[in-house]
Amino acid sequence: MLDIQKIRNDFPILEREVNGKPLIYFDNGATSQTPKVVIDAIVDYYSNYNSNIHRGVHALSQEATDKYEAARIKIQKHFNAKHAYEIILTSGTTESINIVASGFSSLLEEGDEVIVSALEHHSNIVPWQMMCEKAGAILKVLPMKEDGSLRMDLFDEMLNAKTKLVFCNHVSNALGIINPIESIIHRAHKFGAYVLIDGAQACPHIKPDVQELDVDFYVASAHKMCGPTGVGLLYGKQELLEMLPPYQGGGEMIETVTFEKTTYAGLPHKFEAGTPNICGGIAFGVAIDYMNAIGFENIQDQEIILLEYATQKLQNIEGLKIYGTANKTSVISFNIGEIHPYDIGAILDKLGIAVRTGHHCAQPIMNFFEIPGTVRASMAFYNTKEEIDILVNAVEKAKMMLS
Ligand code: ALA
Repeated sequence: MLDIQKIRNDFPILEREVNGKPLIYFDNGATSQTPKVVIDAIVDYYSNYNSNIHRGVHALSQEATDKYEAARIKIQKHFNAKHAYEIILTSGTTESINIVASGFSSLLEEGDEVIVSALEHHSNIVPWQMMCEKAGAILKVLPMKEDGSLRMDLFDEMLNAKTKLVFCNHVSNALGIINPIESIIHRAHKFGAYVLIDGAQACPHIKPDVQELDVDFYVASAHKMCGPTGVGLLYGKQELLEMLPPYQGGGEMIETVTFEKTTYAGLPHKFEAGTPNICGGIAFGVAIDYMNAIGFENIQDQEIILLEYATQKLQNIEGLKIYGTANKTSVISFNIGEIHPYDIGAILDKLGIAVRTGHHCAQPIMNFFEIPGTVRASMAFYNTKEEIDILVNAVEKAKMMLS
């Protein structure tokens, strides 16, 4: 069992008050909080060795380069990629997806088909729509069920020899549903389709093994897993990253440049034009160390306790409906009758409780349920049952005030 109080002491922000009340942070799906070791790594970088990487012969540049590349190796090991150069450091999940979508827009042919799940965040829909528009490809949607799970019974029928790509999140951001990505990857591969998994919402809870999954592309963001904003990863199998054209032109991504012709650098630099988020990359490595030191099994055990407790308590509130009841992570998306989720969120905020309200950048899911949005409480391993009790009382209070 984790010593939650000890863990909470690692997060300075959990000490603060909001609107005169102790902060209760249930917006971990939007961004997780940052432990002191990660904050210290950021301060250390700018205080002691801030410099550009891969460029200078001087000591600071060498130190920053070594730490940045060491972080890449930590990320490689965490995701169990075969090679460090299969880890492209990006600004986050959105950029990672755009790199792949932009690359495939010149590789797909008119009439090719791609499949996206109905449970996606806009960042795993819009880049593919843009790609399909450019390539003349057809976007098909794997539908969802009332419990928030995917209609896997329809998946095989949707696949065919024209299917080139399948995109799905590992965990839905709006509902927390864990998708059967092993089955999706396996079935898509039978038809020769490549699969991209958006792991942004899974990686705070689950440690994915990209080789075991045999996934073609896996993407995630540091800031959902105790790291800083503005950095994330694109994992891709070597041969696929080599096949994709570069996303951006600029410094660092070249081998030689003349006005007649430019040749590109090898992996990972081909996709890393310009000065990257050096400090962010290094701090991402520290965040991964921090989470692994706590242990993903321990994280999951604690989050299951929180999810079950919160579900049971919230369900007792008359008129409260939870969206997404299939196998899921510690996320509860709910509404109470016809009360607008924003109004509930505003009252919770007055009581020091941070939740996300609205469509959660997943409008198709809201359209499926015919609702404008939900209140989403997304819990992390540093949350407590006591905080859930305060949330439940606050939701009851909001219901009374708004009914
Ligand atoms: N994608 C983030 C969320 O689900 C911002 O809140």
